[in-house]
Amino acid sequence: MAGGDGMRFSRAQNIADLRLVARRRLPRVVFDYIDGAVEDERGLAHNRAAFDRIRIVPRYLVDIGTRDLSTTLFGRRYALPFGIGPTGLANLAWPNADSAMARAAVAADIPYVLSTAGTTSIETIMEVAPEHGWFQLYMPKEQKAREDLVRRADAAGAHALMVTVDVPASSKRERDLRNGFMLPLKPSLSLALDGATHPGWSLKLARHGMPNFENLKPYSTPGAKVATLAGYISSQLTGAVTWEMIDGIRKTWKRPLLIKGIQSVEDAKLAVEHGVDGIVISNHGGRQLDAAPAPIEVLPAIRAAVGGKIMLALDSGVRRGADIAKALALGADYVFIGRATFYGVGAAGLAGATKAVDILHDELDRCLAQIGCPTVEGLKTVDVRFDTAFADPAAAAGA
Ligand SMILES: Cc1cc2nc3c(=O)[nH]c(=O)nc-3n(C[C@H](O)[C@H](O)[C@H](O)COP(=O)(O)O)c2cc1C
Repeated sequence: MAGGDGMRFSRAQNIADLRLVARRRLPRVVFDYIDGAVEDERGLAHNRAAFDRIRIVPRYLVDIGTRDLSTTLFGRRYALPFGIGPTGLANLAWPNADSAMARAAVAADIPYVLSTAGTTSIETIMEVAPEHGWFQLYMPKEQKAREDLVRRADAAGAHALMVTVDVPASSKRERDLRNGFMLPLKPSLSLALDGATHPGWSLKLARHGMPNFENLKPYSTPGAKVATLAGYISSQLTGAVTWEMIDGIRKTWKRPLLIKGIQSVEDAKLAVEHGVDGIVISNHGGRQLDAAPAPIEVLPAIRAAVGGKIMLALDSGVRRGADIAKALALGADYVFIGRATFYGVGAAGLAGATKAVDILHDELDRCLAQIGCPTVEGLKTVDVRFDTAFADPAAAAGA
């Protein structure tokens, strides 16, 4: 990684560079919200280390002249095998950031998943991305609110519903706690100084106003301000999601239903039994359980248990096109990105979100060419191994 704090957007070559641009442009309290994770942030680092441990054995002398990165999901062809996953509070980084990410997804012909904790309503996003918009559901404890969110996602035309289940309790994100992160941002001397030294960000926020939880307004006090809705989120959206709740949604939601946050073979099997269409193997980008395994590590066992019976997506730690190739080669049907596009949007709004997607697209395309695999489907037969397989002669020999 080169460039340090002087990194300019126009010079950014990879996701790590976009992160540096975002870090410079955003006040610390906002950057840390995006970049940070739970407790010691070992899970966050482990997600990266796990990808880095995987090697792809290249094949040459193959005609790679025409590469096809398109992928079919639930009967619809998308141009790329990765989509933009849900991230809450995006408009804090840049005005209309949710819409910017949705536009970047439309331009790239990939899915964009709006979060329940998004700062733009599902109705607005489906106008921006009528063919590419999905909705992620944090289940409110209140059944009426739950049902209404699902009804609204359906009425707005969301193509798939992704229920996040890995937030049974709020996690101890120590950067946020130290920074006093909350919505609305709490006025303080440090925030004032932070704002003054990041005038580009401050002026935009002043012009567009403090973002709000647009999806949740109907369920709180009429005309609720950000603080009231933030209180609603902590009291209503954190809590165990049960299989009974999933069954309830399955009865009413007829389009593809996914569960996000699965990490065990047992839960993956239960998802199949409960008639879910897909799972996202995810540890929430290291933001929930610091001791969680990296999704890429548990993927092969989950693939062996339920592959072919249910769509398998994966996220957490994806920063390079080759990471996407590794996940697909180890058995994922699709990949989602979280921080990659959020860094992009934090660096430069729509141009940044677009650049993040373009970087990963370009890197994945080069990787496919380099390993002699011109199609996404072909990745399933590519020789990928965890480093240890090379250290262990028996494993290396395929024993
Ligand atoms: C700032 C931020 C906000 C997030 N908000 C949500 C959310 O509202 N709902 C959700 O299901 N996941 C949320 N996630 C998790 C992402 O969907 C995804 O699982 C994770 O970012 C993947 O890891 P990566 O950032 O290493 O790609 C959030 C992640 C980040 C970084």
